[in-house]
Amino acid sequence: MPSSSQSLLRTARSAAGRLAHSAAGLGAGVADITGDLRTSSLAITGPGVAVKGRFYPVRTLAAEDTETLLDFLQNGMSEESRRLRFMTAMPSVPESAAAWLADRDGESRVALAALDPDDPQRLAAVVEYALLPSGESPEVAFAVADRFQGKGLGSTLLAMLATMSVAAGQPEWSCDVLADNPGPMHILAKVGTVHPGDVVRGVRHVTVELEPTLLFGASAREPTVAVTRWRRRRSGATAP
Ligand SMILES: CC(C)(COP(=O)(O)OP(=O)(O)OC[C@H]1O[C@@H](n2cnc3c(N)ncnc32)[C@H](O)[C@@H]1OP(=O)(O)O)[C@@H](O)C(=O)NCCC(=O)NCCS
Repeated sequence: MPSSSQSLLRTARSAAGRLAHSAAGLGAGVADITGDLRTSSLAITGPGVAVKGRFYPVRTLAAEDTETLLDFLQNGMSEESRRLRFMTAMPSVPESAAAWLADRDGESRVALAALDPDDPQRLAAVVEYALLPSGESPEVAFAVADRFQGKGLGSTLLAMLATMSVAAGQPEWSCDVLADNPGPMHILAKVGTVHPGDVVRGVRHVTVELEPTLLFGASAREPTVAVTRWRRRRSGATAP
């Protein structure tokens, strides 16, 4: 065989070797991930979100979830997390409060719950919004069980709720947060433009312009004010 052909053959063999190697690597990666999912005791029966290698089933809440929600608020959250969520000390949660929070009509009051992947009878996180009688933008609130905090679940579930809110014609939220609680500002900034208001008696009132471009991808046909601002900011950031 002429030396140029031998060289071509060597190159082809080496490329094939590299491909086989990277395919094996890819296979191992996928196996690692699906292995993690398979080791969960959960039988997957509906939609959910994948966050950092874990699958969390997601569903809406309704009146019959009162006990499940009470368990989440009372046992899944620490007293400090409850203080941050309800903006007041709450050593124990009244059943009437859980009943009110669980009872959602899916239109004016919407709540999404992520289930504990190891025990789908229990909740890992709840995000919710409710229209206000004053006609102000719907009020949003969120809570993640202590052992699931800091794993990306709150922000992922909130993005899902924000998408539903925009699709339902509610592109702006309001939210009251304790001034000593930075978490909400971080996760709200992942779904829109946050406008922090003044602090009154330790509580900050913020509004959030949800950003369809962030939530739906880049295909919004009619850019909203929020999208236009975001585009301006983005071009400003990349300008020399
Ligand atoms: C606030 C809360 C919902 C955040 O949910 P979470 O699942 O823990 O947050 P995530 O893991 O999705 O974090 C998203 C981002 O916010 C940041 N963040 C979350 N909590 C934070 C905090 N307390 N301080 C600073 N940053 C915080 C994370 O570092 C992360 O940033 P990154 O993406 O740049 O790494 C949750 O901590 C919680 O339930 N807290 C108690 C109840 C509460 O405060 N409710 C709000 C009342 S409206």
